[in-house]
Amino acid sequence: MSKKKYKINLKRFIPFILVIALIVTAAVWAAAKDKKPNPKRCKHNFENGVCTICGGFAKDYCKHEYEAGVCKICGMQCEHEYMDGVCKTCGMEEDPKLKWPNTTTSFDSYPLSSATDDMLVLVNKKYHVTQSYEPDDLVVVQRWVQGVGDPSQGTNAMRREAAQALNTMLDAAAAQGYDMKLRTGYRSYSYQEMLFNSYARNYGESEANKYSARAGQSEHHTGLACDLGAASQGYELRDDFGESPEGKWIKDHCCEYGFILRYIDGTLDSVGQHTGYIYEAWHIRYVGVDAAKIITDNGWTFEEYLEAVASVRQ
Ligand code: DAL
Ligand code: ZN
Repeated sequence: MSKKKYKINLKRFIPFILVIALIVTAAVWAAAKDKKPNPKRCKHNFENGVCTICGGFAKDYCKHEYEAGVCKICGMQCEHEYMDGVCKTCGMEEDPKLKWPNTTTSFDSYPLSSATDDMLVLVNKKYHVTQSYEPDDLVVVQRWVQGVGDPSQGTNAMRREAAQALNTMLDAAAAQGYDMKLRTGYRSYSYQEMLFNSYARNYGESEANKYSARAGQSEHHTGLACDLGAASQGYELRDDFGESPEGKWIKDHCCEYGFILRYIDGTLDSVGQHTGYIYEAWHIRYVGVDAAKIITDNGWTFEEYLEAVASVRQ
């Protein structure tokens, strides 16, 4: 009696069970179709630091295998961290050019140095600053743009000598009717990391590489560089800063105060062969008056200046 009743009930449920099975199958199929490749399981194919299959960044997912400082898998350069002249990550020896000859020659007036605290320290995609480095003589400059950067992290400051030179220069410019302010000067490793990651997230890593330094590779980290904003452009960061009256004044006069335009060898679209960055009319670097005049007179990048000095010293 009870067995018969059970059989009848089951038959009544069969259509419902079939419909539910159909819905579940369709949902699983749709989810599988939309599912993005998981970077953790992807057999990556990296191009320009980004995987063409899953979109993951090489720096996060590549198990780097370095050869001569370049990863064989993703092609990224090692961000060297040297200990006793050898990189802890890729095993490459420190570039001998970093060990500047310490000789006294007639070229002493063309000084150069690899010490991070030196006014002539070279920081670029090849030579970086250690994560923990922080200059011990940061000074807030007189003219800086409120609401830009993070003053609590020192972005409105530069190293004392550079800050004084900037104050003098911006006072002189203002007296002639060219009103400019610092947007960001010193940037810590973590601030620069946040900045680069934000550009990379919004515009892609290879695009960010054209105008933003990775953490440790920015000379803002030395406290010797800064970005300027012009009153005629609302003190905003604009790539036509060089066309503004203030930008033209800076180009003509900054070397008199010890500054150089640092990224001059690219265009607004393409990166320069020495600096690796697009043209930046707003980014100036303090190197001292002597070096600034030589660099500017020769139309050199800082890299070319240091190479020229190294070659005559050898
Ligand atoms: N814009 C320069 C390259 C920097 O980020 O330091
Ligand atoms: Zn800058």
